[in-house]
Amino acid sequence: MEKITQLEMVGISKSFHGIPANDDIHLTINSGEILGLLGENGAGKTTLMNILYGLYQPDSGQIKINGQRVKIRTPQESMAVGIGMVHQHFALIQPHSAVENIVLGYQHSPLFFPQKKIQDDVLAFSKKFNFDIDLSKQVWQLSAGEQQRVEILKALFNGADLLILDEPTSVLTPQETQELFVILNRMKQEGHLIILISHKLDEITELCDRVTVLQKGKIVGHADTKDVDKRALARMMIGRDVIFNIEREEIPRSEKVLSVNNLVVNGDKGIPMVKGITFDIHKNEIFGIAGVSGNGQRELVEAITGLRKSESGEVRITDTDITNQPPDKIYNEGISHVPEERIKFGIAPGLYLYENAILKQHRSDKFSSRLFLAYKGIKEHARGLVDAFQVATPSIFIQTKNLSGGNIQKLILGREIDGEPPVLVASHPTYGLDVGATEYLRKQLLQRRKEGGAILLVSEDLEEISELCDRIAVIFQGQFMGILEADDPNIKDIGLMMAGTLQL
Ligand SMILES: Nc1ncnc2c1ncn2[C@@H]1O[C@H](COP(=O)(O)OP(=O)(O)OP(=O)(O)O)[C@@H](O)[C@H]1O
Ligand SMILES: [Mg+2]
Repeated sequence: MEKITQLEMVGISKSFHGIPANDDIHLTINSGEILGLLGENGAGKTTLMNILYGLYQPDSGQIKINGQRVKIRTPQESMAVGIGMVHQHFALIQPHSAVENIVLGYQHSPLFFPQKKIQDDVLAFSKKFNFDIDLSKQVWQLSAGEQQRVEILKALFNGADLLILDEPTSVLTPQETQELFVILNRMKQEGHLIILISHKLDEITELCDRVTVLQKGKIVGHADTKDVDKRALARMMIGRDVIFNIEREEIPRSEKVLSVNNLVVNGDKGIPMVKGITFDIHKNEIFGIAGVSGNGQRELVEAITGLRKSESGEVRITDTDITNQPPDKIYNEGISHVPEERIKFGIAPGLYLYENAILKQHRSDKFSSRLFLAYKGIKEHARGLVDAFQVATPSIFIQTKNLSGGNIQKLILGREIDGEPPVLVASHPTYGLDVGATEYLRKQLLQRRKEGGAILLVSEDLEEISELCDRIAVIFQGQFMGILEADDPNIKDIGLMMAGTLQL
C-alpha cells in the first residue's frame, strides 16, 4: 500500500436509532499536518474516528486516500491502508510485556514469524522515534504515559501513516503530555498525518495546525490555529463565552466532617501505597490532593470510599468510624464518590440511563416505596439530572454504555452531587468534560462548598486545584509532602513537592 499523503472524508453520515451522530461531514488532512477535532460532549467526534478506523460503518459517504476511494470495513482493513488509532481506554494485554504486545498485533506476521527478529525491529524503531520506554517491562508495570507510548509505537510499527488519538492527554501528567507532544511533532516532521481529539484548548492551539469544530454531529467551523485563541475556540464550540477563571468566595471553614488518621493502604501489588496519611476536611471546604498519578491517591480514595481495605489507621465521618466498611454503608453515611475508573466503578454500562441515575440509591425510600409510584419518581429524577447536567442523550431509555465519554461523566457527577452529600470525594471530576461542562461542574463544586459540603478533590490539573481548593495537600510516594493554605506563598513550589524534592 502506498503511503498516505492525503485523506478525505466526504459526506459522512451516521445515525443511531434515527438520531444523527455525524451529519454530512467533510474533512481533509494532508501529510505533515496535525488536525484538531473539537466539539462538545456528544458532538460526534469519537463516532467519526471510529468510522475511519473501521469500527462503525457510515450510513453514507466515502473515505478517500490519495484521491482514491477506499473501503474500510474493519480495524484490520483500516490498519492495512495505514491508519492507526489510540483509544482513550488502552487495550493492551496486561500480563504481557510491552514488546510482546506490539509483536502480537503485528499485521504482517508470517505464520512462523521470527519473534526475536521482530522484537529487534521494534526496539530499533523505538530508538528511532526516541520513545523512552523499557519494552521488556510487563504492561501492568508501566505508567499511563508509557502504556500510551506503547500504543503509539504499536500503531507506527504496524505501518500507520495516519494516527488518530482520542483524548490522549486526559490520563497523562503535564510532563507526560509534553513528552507526547515531542513525539507527535517528530511524527509530523516525518510526514505523518495526525488527528487529535481533545477538550484541552491550550493543547489544541499549541500542537495542531488546523482545527475542525463539530456541533451536534455537524461541522460548524474550521480554523487555522495560528488565527485563534482558546476563547475563540470555546465560542466556536459552544456558541458563547466561557469563564476560564472562576471566582472563589471567601468562606470560613466550619466543623470537621471527614477525618483520616494515620491511614495505611496497600496497592494491587500488596505493598503499601498510602503510608500513614492524616488530614481532616471541614464543612464549607474543598480539600485538594495534588500529585503525579501513581503516588497513592487512587488507593487513598478507594480506602475512604470502601472500595479497598486499609491495613491500619482510621476514617471517620463526624463521629462514626467507617474504616473498612462496605461501600453502600459508607455511601449511606454521607460520602458520595465520583471515581477515577468510571466504567468500572461509576456506572453499570449495560443498564439504562434512568437505572444508572439512581444506582446506589435504589433501596432508599424515595425510590422503592410503592412500585409504580417509584418508577415514575425514578424517571422524573433521571430526567431532572439529564436536564440539570445537560447530558446529551436521545432519551433516558438508552443503554448507558452508548452515551459519549463526557456524557457518562456528566451523569455520574449529577447523580453524586444531586443528593447534596455531606462529603463528596471526586477524582479527576472534569476529565473528559468539554469546556462548558467543566465550567458548570466547577460552579457546582463551589456551590456545594457554600451550602456546607466537604469536598475532597483529587486532580493532576494544578490550575483546577489552585482555583477551587481552600487547602492543598501534595502527595508523593504515599505521603503528604505538606498541606498548604490556598494563599500560602509556597504554592509556587508545588511542582517541587510533587516531585518529592521539597517537604514542608
Ligand atoms: N453505539 C452507539 N449506539 C447508540 N448511540 C451511540 C453509539 N455510539 C455513539 N452514540 C451516540 O452518538 C452521539 C455522539 O457520540 P460520540 O461518542 O461520537 O461523542 P463525542 O463527540 O466523542 O463526545 P465526548 O466528548 O463526550 O467523548 C452521542 O449522542 C452518543 O450517545
Ligand atoms: Mg468521545
